[in-house]
Amino acid sequence: SSTEIQRLATLIRGARHMVAFTGAGASTESGLPDFRSSQGLWRRVPQHMASLAFLERHFDEFVAFYHQRIAALEGARPSRVHRILARWEAAGWLKAVITQNVDGLHQQAGSRRVLPLHGDLRTCRCQRCGRTQPSEAFLSHPYCGCGGRLRPNVVLFGEPLPAAVWEQARGEALRCDLMLVVGSSLEVYPAASLPELVARRAAAGEAVLAIVNRDPTPLDEEAGLVLRGLAGDVLERVDQELARLESNR
Ligand code: NAD
Ligand code: APR
Repeated sequence: SSTEIQRLATLIRGARHMVAFTGAGASTESGLPDFRSSQGLWRRVPQHMASLAFLERHFDEFVAFYHQRIAALEGARPSRVHRILARWEAAGWLKAVITQNVDGLHQQAGSRRVLPLHGDLRTCRCQRCGRTQPSEAFLSHPYCGCGGRLRPNVVLFGEPLPAAVWEQARGEALRCDLMLVVGSSLEVYPAASLPELVARRAAAGEAVLAIVNRDPTPLDEEAGLVLRGLAGDVLERVDQELARLESNR
């Protein structure tokens, strides 16, 4: 509603340290499917194909599955969502984007402080010598010059998140006074424990959790503001409201 749009624009202008927390819903307009909504990937493919166990036991099938996901990236371009968040960072309103996405679209849109909790599908690494290279290598020949097997640089289910990125993201969740969730079901842990942390800080009056999502999430009740709808539409309307408020200064 327009009052919610106005409320979010006012919160953004008044925020000391706003961070975004994005999920697959931030990239569906770029043509990349999400995971758990009605069109989600896990409705068609079993989620365990993105697990460490599957990589170890069924390497050829794992390679075929990730071939499709890497190939899908080639046609994907940043959407309104990625571009608006990059512009809000350049304007000084947004300090960091914590993302569960592995598509690199925030970086391509120009966001500078991006914390990719689940890694980066655009690069792969050798499981033996650790050398990193573009994912095209994984597509053509999933073996390293040293003889080791290559794998995508993404967090698989059952793996720990990269510690340095996790610590930085947790620091942002602890210091922000506004967290804007964009396009996440908030069902996967430990990623979702960051918006959860902000919800607890909000209960103590230290921060506000705002959620922009097409479907309900488990944190909606604890959020200070929930905008149900398509992220591109919502962020575009908030961006216009920000411009209007700025011009009336
Ligand atoms: P899990 O126990 O394997 O998840 C925890 C581990 O997976 C952690 O070690 C973490 O590093 C890793 N991980 C976390 N997020 C990841 C991600 N985005 N991509 C790849 N790996 C990731 O997995 P789980 O326990 O089966 O699921 C974790 C949460 O997700 C649970 O809260 C569960 O409710 C929820 N979940 C929801 C659905 C669904 O369809 N709604 C399906 C499976 C799990
Ligand atoms: N606008 C707003 N919300 C959207 C849009 C959109 N255009 N498209 C999808 N959504 C919402 C869906 O309603 C859904 O609730 O985005 C949410 C996406 O949730 P998931 O599919 O669970 O994706 P995500 O939250 O990123 O999943 C977390 O799970 O499988 C792992 O590694 C994977 O990083 C991913 C993690």
